[in-house]
Amino acid sequence: MVFPEYRPRRMRRTETLRAMIRETRLAPEQMIYPLFVMPGRERREEVPSMPGVHRLSVDMLAAEARECLQVGIRSVILFGLPEEKDAMGSGAYAKNGIVQRAIRELKDKVPELTVVTDVCLCEYTDHGHCGCLAGNEVDNDTTLELLAKTALSHARAGADMVAPSDMMDGRVSEIRTTLDENSFHMIPIMSYAVKYASAFYGPFRDAADCAPQFGDRRSYQMDPANSREALREATLDVDEGADILMVKPAVAYLDIISRLRDEFDLPVAAYHVSGEYAMIKAAAEKGWIDGDRVMAETLLSIRRAGADIILTYFAKDMARFLADNT
Ligand code: PBG
Repeated sequence: MVFPEYRPRRMRRTETLRAMIRETRLAPEQMIYPLFVMPGRERREEVPSMPGVHRLSVDMLAAEARECLQVGIRSVILFGLPEEKDAMGSGAYAKNGIVQRAIRELKDKVPELTVVTDVCLCEYTDHGHCGCLAGNEVDNDTTLELLAKTALSHARAGADMVAPSDMMDGRVSEIRTTLDENSFHMIPIMSYAVKYASAFYGPFRDAADCAPQFGDRRSYQMDPANSREALREATLDVDEGADILMVKPAVAYLDIISRLRDEFDLPVAAYHVSGEYAMIKAAAEKGWIDGDRVMAETLLSIRRAGADIILTYFAKDMARFLADNT
């Protein structure tokens, strides 16, 4: 036998051979596209720090949803910008709140779309924290009730799945119990189980106008240094009845996605967050990287690490890229 005995290059010679042994794939139905809903009519405003991402008024949502479906994106997750904010975040659970109206509009006009909702108070509180306050602290147990009310109001409006992102302890079981008591036992909970206190959320806080007015979120979101604690958080959410476990952000936490994939049998989702999106967009705009290829490679890395589902602002772009490149 001539040296080298084994030549991995043999199977890389043509695209057909490469495709034959490709270990990881990404399909449009594995992506969830985030939508920001704002008050008003006929409004479509680009988020400055997130090129290509728009805040839309309720009447503009159906067209956007149809565009998603056309490229194969079948699920969206809704975030709301309310008309008014208060200390208790009451806009989050108002029957006619911005997200509740958005859900009804989408389920009415584009019923084949799956509508997931983000359950959190931070876009609705005047102080910008994810729960209500006791002094200067976010009060866990009084917040739970408000989160459950929010999830229930989303389900009543027609949401297909709820996704709590607040990081209060015990929220999954509180939400599960409330949904079940109100006959919404078939509505799944995608828990932001492992959510880090991350600087990568910066552009989102501009988009959703939800930066904390004092302090930061480190007393409830996780310390980026911790990995064992991620397993503990995920275990709690599994015990409380979560249907999907999410890790957030994604790329700086691929090791966490991989650990969750190994340790749990529930589906794992990863949120490729606003800052991760913005960095690729900015470098591509400068001509420093090939934006499409970096997007594809990045999203593939999240799948390779073990995520079944990716929440990403690139969903439509990636679906188009996949259609053009297969
Ligand atoms: C709300 C929420 C945030 C994100 C998703 N849900 C912001 C935060 O926790 O500060 C971030 C999403 C992104 O950056 O793309 N709690």
